[in-house]
Amino acid sequence: MWEYTDKVREHFFNPRNVGEIENPDGVGEVGSLACGDALKLTFKLDKDGKIEEAKFKTFGCASAIATSSVLTELIKGKTLDEAAKVTNRDIANYLGGLPEQKMHCSVMGREALEAAIENYQGGGKKKHELEGRVVCTCFGVTDKEIERVIRENNLTTVEDVTNYCKAGGGCGGCRGEIEKIIDKIQGDKAKEMPVAAPLRASGLTNIQKIQLIQQTINEQIKPALRAHGGNIELIDVEGDKVIVAFRGMCAQCKLAEFTMKDVVEAKLREFVSKELFVEEDKESALQPHNHLE
Ligand code: FES
Repeated sequence: MWEYTDKVREHFFNPRNVGEIENPDGVGEVGSLACGDALKLTFKLDKDGKIEEAKFKTFGCASAIATSSVLTELIKGKTLDEAAKVTNRDIANYLGGLPEQKMHCSVMGREALEAAIENYQGGGKKKHELEGRVVCTCFGVTDKEIERVIRENNLTTVEDVTNYCKAGGGCGGCRGEIEKIIDKIQGDKAKEMPVAAPLRASGLTNIQKIQLIQQTINEQIKPALRAHGGNIELIDVEGDKVIVAFRGMCAQCKLAEFTMKDVVEAKLREFVSKELFVEEDKESALQPHNHLE
């Protein structure tokens, strides 16, 4: 049973603007019944170019209906430029949050809005063009879409990506590629940090320190573990304590304790701070890592 906020329940039981506008100015259709969710958004503009009316038809769960309902409320009265700035975070925040595993519903809302605006601006162009190369063939998700949800929602794990756009939640064949995209974006972000080399934690803010730890894990530690079929995930940072979880082969490896000290801790001390010490989050290592339902 999902933990839904009162606002989600309210919009699910009393959805606003259900239906389809006759002769709409813009139509956006995303998702597919085969994938479990589909949303059709239609809108009409007033003489000043503001969205006068917006309606939706959704096939999906309670979150899909609530997010569609909120989307129509959020965009009414806005110009198309203003509406285009509505993000999936805005939709989820308006609802007081969504279960992580249901965040893909908010992304579907944002995609439908973009498709409808594209349809209007393209003079009735029917098909919402998928940008980029399809990475997840099970759900038809492209590298551009995966990159976008990672950047906009600061995602760090494949499970997060699955929660936000479904990619990786089917056969699992694309999970390695999703991981590479995450690493690339985390690496890019870390490079954008205003920290001069040599990189050391002294004088860093907490956020910079955590970013530097993540960068060191991505660039110095993960490649070594992956070469042996293992992996690692940063779980939390509490002061000088870095909590991580081993994945893949490392999770069952008898030498994990040595890897933790001789590789993980040693690298973090070398690249971030001599004060750091590492602990394994055993509980998280035991969790299943595919939460899509
Ligand atoms: S290709 Fe992505 S889950 Fe199957």
